[in-house]
Amino acid sequence: MVSNIKLRKVLNDLKRRPEDAAKDLKISVTKINNILSNKSKLDFKTISRAVKIWPINYGDFFSFYDDAKLGFKIMRHNESEKSKRIMKRGGKPYYLYKDTVMSKLSPFRPELITELEVVANDSPKNSKVRFNNGHFLHQFTYFIGPVNFYYIEKNRKKVAKMNTGDSMYISPYVCHSFTTRKNKKKLLGKILALTYSDKLDNETLNEITALGFNITKKYKINLKDHKTAFWSNIENFFKNSSITFKEFKRNTSIDLDKIKKSKKIPSEKIIKKISHNLKLNYRDLFPPNNTLEVKIQKYSNCKNWFYPSMKKKDYLFKELTNIPQLPFSRGYELTLLNEKKHKSFLDVPSHQYIYNLGTTKINFIINGKKGYLNPSDSIYIKPNNKHIFYKKGKLLILRLGGRISGDSLYQLSMISEKNLKKTIDDNRPWFNK
Ligand SMILES: [Fe+2]
Repeated sequence: MVSNIKLRKVLNDLKRRPEDAAKDLKISVTKINNILSNKSKLDFKTISRAVKIWPINYGDFFSFYDDAKLGFKIMRHNESEKSKRIMKRGGKPYYLYKDTVMSKLSPFRPELITELEVVANDSPKNSKVRFNNGHFLHQFTYFIGPVNFYYIEKNRKKVAKMNTGDSMYISPYVCHSFTTRKNKKKLLGKILALTYSDKLDNETLNEITALGFNITKKYKINLKDHKTAFWSNIENFFKNSSITFKEFKRNTSIDLDKIKKSKKIPSEKIIKKISHNLKLNYRDLFPPNNTLEVKIQKYSNCKNWFYPSMKKKDYLFKELTNIPQLPFSRGYELTLLNEKKHKSFLDVPSHQYIYNLGTTKINFIINGKKGYLNPSDSIYIKPNNKHIFYKKGKLLILRLGGRISGDSLYQLSMISEKNLKKTIDDNRPWFNK
């Protein structure tokens, strides 16, 4: 959606007064002022001219459309049914896809998928199994029924026999496939395949596409193991500061070359000196390592706890496949234990995708608004909206940090409330005013 207010931000950032902008864009000052005061529309010709002459992109003039104005958005079972489509592999029906809720504000792309291929054995080399080529999005999967999950790890085809409540995570581009295991009840297995982007989103893709493969690959830090990751990360910071280990030694008498050669990680005291000397956060000197490509979580081994307490059991949380490399992505199965309305509010600082796994209708109150979820309904809840669920039932929850997590959360926290309000108001599209 084109937003006039966005022009104001562009001009502010580029330090252009209306008269300067008018000159650059070859339009009258009156026209610019009319756009800025919402008396006339920002036309595409002006945007194109601006993109042509200034270091900005088309996206700088467009704002998000909020499709969850109430604080949440629901997709009902029958709407999911309407999105049904059969995906073939090798000319034969292989998957039945159904959409569940998605919002323009969050990176979830969740599908309910029925596995149409029924296999009589559990060999990962079964010719009936059709692997895909993997995809850019992360995938969290919750299993319902007798499903075989196939994946390729270190060039080897593998299989995991999954049942209801089991879950898995696969990182981008892991080739995978799913089938139904032959069973007496002749049930078809299903999965909730929740794909999503995390820190590497479309904006990042735009940037690395413009940089190209050869430049982008030079960014990479070697995360192979604890020590390699530590040194690769440190060297990256030194490179970015154009300080050599030699210069650092001259300055601090600490010989990093020697420590690196001894294949050790420096002492805490030395790491503190590095962070002080290079003006870095201490925590930035500890990169992740041994990152997982595939994680399988069996239901029987899930960690679980009552919420809010052992005494007041309104909810039972079961932790599904959570991994440290995505600290803001959390999957849970939530059993609702209280038939009556209660006061155990959840206040979650992340985007939430929730699917009613059970066979009963459950009630919710979100931000003071009442509603319900029937079986197979799904709901997206915006971050920081206080809510409760009640009536007995079972939900699948996936939480994602979205853009406001990690470093961006810390930077947001550094802005005063007054300035944060100003930042948001200045960026609002005119039609919301
Ligand atoms: Fe997938």
